[in-house]
Amino acid sequence: MGKETLSITDNRTGKTYEVAIKNGTIKAMDLRQIRTDAEDFGLMTYDPAFTNTASCQSKITFIDGDRGILEYRGYPIEQLAERSNYLEVAYLVVNGELPTKAELEQWTFEINNHTLLHENVKKFMDGFHHDAHPMGMLISTVAALSTFYPDAKEVHDPETRHLDIVRLIAKMITMAAFAYRHSLGQRYVYPDNSLSYSGNFMNMLFRMTERPYKPNPVLERALDVLFILHADHEQNCSANAMRSVGSSQVDPYSAVAAATAALYGPLHGGANEAVLRMLKEIGSKDHVPAFIQEVKSGKGSRLMGFGHRVYKNYDPRAKFIKKMADEVFEVTGKNPLLEIAVELERIALQDEYFVSRKLYPNVDFYSGLIYEAMGFPVAMFPVLFAIPRTSGWLAQWLEMIQDSEQKIARPRQVYTGQRKLDYVPITERKK
Ligand code: CMC
Repeated sequence: MGKETLSITDNRTGKTYEVAIKNGTIKAMDLRQIRTDAEDFGLMTYDPAFTNTASCQSKITFIDGDRGILEYRGYPIEQLAERSNYLEVAYLVVNGELPTKAELEQWTFEINNHTLLHENVKKFMDGFHHDAHPMGMLISTVAALSTFYPDAKEVHDPETRHLDIVRLIAKMITMAAFAYRHSLGQRYVYPDNSLSYSGNFMNMLFRMTERPYKPNPVLERALDVLFILHADHEQNCSANAMRSVGSSQVDPYSAVAAATAALYGPLHGGANEAVLRMLKEIGSKDHVPAFIQEVKSGKGSRLMGFGHRVYKNYDPRAKFIKKMADEVFEVTGKNPLLEIAVELERIALQDEYFVSRKLYPNVDFYSGLIYEAMGFPVAMFPVLFAIPRTSGWLAQWLEMIQDSEQKIARPRQVYTGQRKLDYVPITERKK
């Protein structure tokens, strides 16, 4: 192999520059030396939506989008989904190693002991309108937590960071469940710490008068596996929001609120909600070909749950979820929309439009069907994504805070507007 450098010739000046290549990247700042004269600011790259720009070095999640590979801290997602549980995976993602038995017990104990919310949070949540979207409630309530834990602004103190990480992972299920109960006008159910993380969540969501609440083990495990599959996904929109907002050294509650807001959008965590609405709109298997035609014409919506910025192959999470759907449907009965989804997938995977663009089902294509069969309303779907992704966001935040190469995130722009205009009094302005 030749030298690990890149030679660049600037045809404006005829000068040649040599910049280092490390880990398949060049440093954008190395381009700044390329100037036409002393007045020139220097060359920058233009990369809207960061499609080819690495914003950090990371040891958390590995994705090979062409081969459909996903690993957390080096462990294949399939092994974690089959053999681990969500809290163990959250420990792995946040701390970098699988825990020993004692470490896992301590971690589980800590999380269980922080699931309660301050009573004032309840009052605060009561103030939302009866039909408030639970994701809007979650975003605001997470942000409000920073006012309960003012020490959280000590982001350089490892002990404070640890406590806030535990609190956030623990309280996410309680806030999410309270948002759900609020939408139903039902009294809030307090955590039962003798249950597993996902079992406790189901208890706070679904418990009526029974005591104690016993989650169905198949559904409890399915929810836990869905949490594992959603724990992290490297530099996606919400992780980028977490890092970007966190880079101002704001407390992690405020940064998680920003990340949750990013996840709310229909092109990100809101996609599983959009998939369900799309399947309902299609209505029957026979309408699938016409719907596909409409997507291809560009006049209708996109095929939601298909395509990914990174995966140009079947999303490994979608593969696992599709397999798991049968086990869930055995308990809940088959979701009638499954037939439409399977037909959509069958047709799209043979269609030149989708094949040539490498558009495959992503994690959101089948997850919504499972959530619906488990009794979740569509509006809760992005919330079910936000709960497990909290561990990923916190891992990304922790890595960013401790990375000496990171500074406050501040991209450059290419200014294309007007300059040096003279102010015109309002009476003299013309359209
Ligand atoms: N249906 C129809 N056409 C599509 C779709 C789709 N779902 N996704 C991409 N395309 C087309 C797009 O129109 C474009 O075609 P052309 O080259 O002719 O203009 C081409 O494929 C490339 O699309 P892009 O918008 O440049 O790709 P992107 O990497 O910017 O977008 C995406 C990625 C996920 C936003 C997009 O595929 C999409 O909108 N999918 C539907 C929403 C969805 O399912 N989102 C969940 C993502 S996975 C969960 C998560 O990580 O949040």
